[in-house]
Amino acid sequence: MTKVIKGGTVLTADRQWKADVLIEGETIKQIGENLKGDEVIDAEGAYVIPGGIDPHTHLEMPFMGTTAAETFESGTWAAATGGTTMLVDFCLPGEDGSIKNAINEWHRKSAPQICSDIGYHMAITGWNETIFTEMKDAVDMGVNSFKHFMAYKGALMVEDDEMFASFKRCRELGALPMVHAENGDLVADMQADMLAKGITGPEGHAYSRPPEFEGEAANRAITIADAAGTPLYIVHVSCEQAHEAIRRARQKGMRVYGEPLIQFLTLDESEYFNKDWDHAARRVMSPPFRSKDHQDSLWAGLQAGSLQVVATDHAAFTTEQKRMGVDDFTKIPNGSNGIEERLAVLWTKGVETGRLTPEEFVAVTSTNVAKILNIYPKKGALVEGADADIVVWDPKLSKTISPTTHHSVLDYNVFEGWEVTAQARHTLSRGEVIWSWGKNSQPQPGRGRFVPRPAFSSAAKALSQWKELTAPKQVKRDPMNIPAGI
Ligand code: URP
Ligand code: ZN
Ligand code: ZN
Ligand code: ZN
Repeated sequence: MTKVIKGGTVLTADRQWKADVLIEGETIKQIGENLKGDEVIDAEGAYVIPGGIDPHTHLEMPFMGTTAAETFESGTWAAATGGTTMLVDFCLPGEDGSIKNAINEWHRKSAPQICSDIGYHMAITGWNETIFTEMKDAVDMGVNSFKHFMAYKGALMVEDDEMFASFKRCRELGALPMVHAENGDLVADMQADMLAKGITGPEGHAYSRPPEFEGEAANRAITIADAAGTPLYIVHVSCEQAHEAIRRARQKGMRVYGEPLIQFLTLDESEYFNKDWDHAARRVMSPPFRSKDHQDSLWAGLQAGSLQVVATDHAAFTTEQKRMGVDDFTKIPNGSNGIEERLAVLWTKGVETGRLTPEEFVAVTSTNVAKILNIYPKKGALVEGADADIVVWDPKLSKTISPTTHHSVLDYNVFEGWEVTAQARHTLSRGEVIWSWGKNSQPQPGRGRFVPRPAFSSAAKALSQWKELTAPKQVKRDPMNIPAGI
């Protein structure tokens, strides 16, 4: 059984050209002119792009005394309707602290529900022998990246020595360390200050997490990665200070990657001063939204290549859950939505305005993610043999974002009322059409698969080379080989 996507313009991270795409089973068989297949999918007037990969989500995550409301089913379905065919979700260790058990728990929850493919990152929230040992198990189980929280003091935060130990372990294993860069000690202090001053509303959230705290933590994490000889991926980059640290590190030859969120690119700090408490609280996330200057810095970073991917950090809490913090902003569950809107909002605010080329759009929503997370070209590419995760992207299909029509379980949407000018006409996951505009029929939950992400293979070799050589800075700095060019 073959399918052919006909009449579209194939758009990749490099170029665009008129061509048909032939799919056999789950993979791409051929890209060329006048191809024939058993079934025809219409792409006339549209781009044909690799399915979006969201590198940062939190589905059903237990967090801040509650659990994120978006399920693996609703999350992967909402993503598919917006042109995203793969998510990489964050596993958090449970009460027993075991990484291995956490991954198995994530499999137990996600496997029967997922409508499209998924991968995991693992959070490192402490340091001991078991974690050291189990990091290898995690890599063997296909989880090759570890997130370290430099904030959420008293809950998830790790200390510098713990990060250093974990980063060195990442180097041994060929895994990618990630950080949530905010100085958690200073945030905790500022939060207490705000509450003591009687500032209990969402604006206190913004005041207690200034960009300087993020920049300091980003610089510190970069120093630790440099000393450990690992690359580094900084999640949810929101401000110029963190971006500047990344630019500087890259200029020195380090492989440091920065992930702005679609929310940070398009929503600003004035949201926290909205007189409607619910409106403001629904947008409380960490780091917080910043001013327009910071947004400009992030757009510039995507243009210049100093920032490489656009994520959502989709952590969906309902209005009722947000109201846990009605008397105290520190109790508002942190997180905001975007899993369905990422591509459409980025196209509308980025490509339509001339800030990004269509090719850059594909790079930052899919191809760069696949490369950095070591699943390229199985994912993130339109080439023969790749998974047929493909979106027929219609640049003339507009809609107004609304919680009454979105596919998330949330009762609101941070992009509510926004007009977007482009949408997914069809979304294919491994050759199966899982979304068609105007049809709205959800695919079978559980059809999605876990995608193991292998360790970076050249790490061990490069490491021994590093041990033998006396000095060369570049070799010391960069023992792990993440595909070049991003
Ligand atoms: O506010 C946020 N970002 N919530 C999700 C957890 C995290 O820090 O990524
Ligand atoms: Zn975080
Ligand atoms: Zn501390
Ligand atoms: Zn997150």
